Amino acid sequence: MKVVIIGVNGFIGHSLLARILNTTDWEVFGTDLNSDRIQPWLNSSRFHFEQGDIRKCRNWVNHHVCIADVALPLAACARPSEYIRDPIAIFELDFEENLGIVRECLRHDTRVIFPSTSEVYGMSRDMPFNEETSAFVFGPIAKQRWIYASCKQLLDRLLWAYGEQGLQFTIFRPFNWFGPNLDNVDAPGHGSSRVVAQFLGHLLRRETIRLVEGGRQKRCFTYIDDGIDALMRILAQRDETTAGRIFNIGNPGAHVSIRDLAHTMIRVLSEFPGHTEIAQNAAIQEISATEYYGAGYQDTEDRVPDITNIRTALGWFPRVSLTEGLRRMTAFYLQDPAVACSANSASARLSI
Ligand code: UGA
Repeated sequence: MKVVIIGVNGFIGHSLLARILNTTDWEVFGTDLNSDRIQPWLNSSRFHFEQGDIRKCRNWVNHHVCIADVALPLAACARPSEYIRDPIAIFELDFEENLGIVRECLRHDTRVIFPSTSEVYGMSRDMPFNEETSAFVFGPIAKQRWIYASCKQLLDRLLWAYGEQGLQFTIFRPFNWFGPNLDNVDAPGHGSSRVVAQFLGHLLRRETIRLVEGGRQKRCFTYIDDGIDALMRILAQRDETTAGRIFNIGNPGAHVSIRDLAHTMIRVLSEFPGHTEIAQNAAIQEISATEYYGAGYQDTEDRVPDITNIRTALGWFPRVSLTEGLRRMTAFYLQDPAVACSANSASARLSI
């Protein structure tokens, strides 16, 4: 099988690349702005990489969408602080560029596996969020945080509509995936990474962890290996089991408040030789959402995936607990600090 991954150096992109090359005989074509995460695979005969900006290498993207069996458009910015700082850039990249790729898939009859987001459920009060029945609830326009979710939900709707014209698609919704190489733990700014990388960076630099609105809001954190396992099952199953379907991919068993996440991360860090003292002295402070992100922020209070659909269709369920996942992620950064330090600046990352 030929797979094209647009945004192959991203957190999901490079993890998927590794799994494909390690466990299948598939060929991968990939493009990204950066290549720091994919260094180990650049010499593989089954991986063909083009470094560049998808906004400028449309010919490469269109050609490879044409020759591939399946496309994964993973180029996007997925950090809430950026949704508020530069909402137009989110629209231009996350929506416009990806819409162009989806249209190419339709034109060339290439299957597309599209990354939606847990954020599309917004502030829905459903518990858990279901792909077929939950309504999307977003805040007012001045709350720019919702531009990312709005872009993604409109793309989901377009995929659905193009599906009626013959587009072969599967939509997946990651719920707070985390693991090695999630964003850049070395980025010093607040809001420069998603929360697990953000907290780990603060801990390792002996900085204060900031709990937005006291950290009462809850998420379900999903370890990357579980997420990739689900994606591999979707990739391998090209029939009515996956065609035209939407799947939540998350770990309902790892449902914690952000405050509890911080304490669990400190406890996990204390297990590592030489880091007990850092963990004992870890400082936590509460901060208002406006102070941390600015006035354009509004949060999802709670987010739990209903995973009945993917469990029934593909037999998938998460296996890695939050604590075990945090242990593996912490070990990765402690054993290989060069990986964290060599990463490009968080603002340059445009793939999920
Ligand atoms: C994320 C991002 O929008 C996307 O990466 C993605 O599509 C989706 O959710 C997902 O991964 O499922 P969110 O969970 O709000 O959104 O993003 P984080 O930045 O990881 O924040 C999680 C929570 O931690 C938020 O409530 C935030 O306010 C809080 N937080 C974050 C803190 O309390 N302190 C910090 O320093 C950073």
